[in-house]
Amino acid sequence: MSSSPLPSSNTSLTYTQPSTPPHLTHSPLANPSPNELLIRVHAAAINPVDIQLWNNVLIGLLAGRKEKGIGRDYVGESLPSAKSCKGSGKLARRYSGWLVGRYATLRMLGWEREGTFAQYLSVNASTDPIARKPACWSYEEAAAVPLVVLTPFACLDWLPPENEHNKKRRVVVTGASGGVGMWCVQLAKKLYNCHVIGICSGRNADFVRRMGADEIIDYTAQNVAQTLLDGRPGGRKYDLYIDCVGGVEMFRYWHDLLHKNGAYITIVGDKTSRTAMGGPFTYLTYPSQILHFLYGYLFGPRYANVILYQKSELLEKTVELAEKGRVEVVVQEVVNGILSEEEYKEAWERVRRLMEEGRVRGKVVVSNG
Ligand SMILES: NC(=O)c1ccc[n+]([C@@H]2O[C@H](COP(=O)([O-])OP(=O)(O)OC[C@H]3O[C@@H](n4cnc5c(N)ncnc54)[C@H](OP(=O)(O)O)[C@@H]3O)[C@@H](O)[C@H]2O)c1
Repeated sequence: MSSSPLPSSNTSLTYTQPSTPPHLTHSPLANPSPNELLIRVHAAAINPVDIQLWNNVLIGLLAGRKEKGIGRDYVGESLPSAKSCKGSGKLARRYSGWLVGRYATLRMLGWEREGTFAQYLSVNASTDPIARKPACWSYEEAAAVPLVVLTPFACLDWLPPENEHNKKRRVVVTGASGGVGMWCVQLAKKLYNCHVIGICSGRNADFVRRMGADEIIDYTAQNVAQTLLDGRPGGRKYDLYIDCVGGVEMFRYWHDLLHKNGAYITIVGDKTSRTAMGGPFTYLTYPSQILHFLYGYLFGPRYANVILYQKSELLEKTVELAEKGRVEVVVQEVVNGILSEEEYKEAWERVRRLMEEGRVRGKVVVSNG
């Protein structure tokens, strides 16, 4: 197998101090270690967590003054390099398809790592969630998938087993038009065969129905709690409530909405700010959530604040669904110029504002062109 020279430098969007405007960094491209692949990035998605990490003072302190990257999701192409082609037999066998660049890959990065808003990345194929990109997705669509599809898998794991009356399990998804919510709806409907109630604004009702919701509750026009309580046929309670918005408003109805084996699962927690870190980290900042978890574990319905599963096989399962035409990726906007000297400030402001406003339908992606 022939090797090609590595590109000499890598441009990426980085920051040093929390909440300060990021800048372009041009650094020498590090040689990937034997178990790493060098990836040329085609596109990357922006997620609320990118803004939350960028704003986070504690992470800023822990990471010190070194340059910190932005972006977790990406789609890219593995470059053949002397080291990665020579890698262990196991690695070469398992990934022979895309080691030579036949496939593009998609994955998610941990917070402590380099960001995906970059020209090149090193990835560890044995530990990073990664899968081949299906031909039916454009680069921009593929970049929009990993983080937001791995999160619903963590939520839907809390579905109680199908009941003896063979009735469909009933799942409520709030924030159903957002990046994670639209995948909760699609997977609950198409993979888990549930009856899905999507909570969204009226302007997104048709979109959420298209994703597979059987019923819609317009949170801008209806009393959500009352509508859900009235919607329990014969008093039959719901099986799963997935909260992609945060806050405690609906948690008050926990017992009334969910049966004993049901579960109230949040990916945000009690907080409502879009710019503060959510997920299980908020067990520390909102300790009452620990009591809810313990109470639910002992007496039901269960309660948990969950984080996404970082598993390649779940990405591969999603690829299979996509290839069968069973799921859809929705990219509201592609932002160009994030790595261009002339355009990056404007591009960053655009993606930052969209994340902070929280009105995106589906995903926003940055393209490296
Ligand atoms: N724990 C984890 O592992 C994990 C993973 C991913 C994300 N998250 C967190 O989950 C949250 C959602 O992430 P995301 O990527 O899905 O966000 P997002 O795409 O930015 O969500 C925006 C969507 O939320 C809808 N929305 C806003 N307020 C709403 C409300 N009160 N009721 C119903 N819908 C509402 C908006 O629709 P309208 O404009 O029509 O209101 C919009 O379509 C974020 O806080 C994120 O940090 C956690």
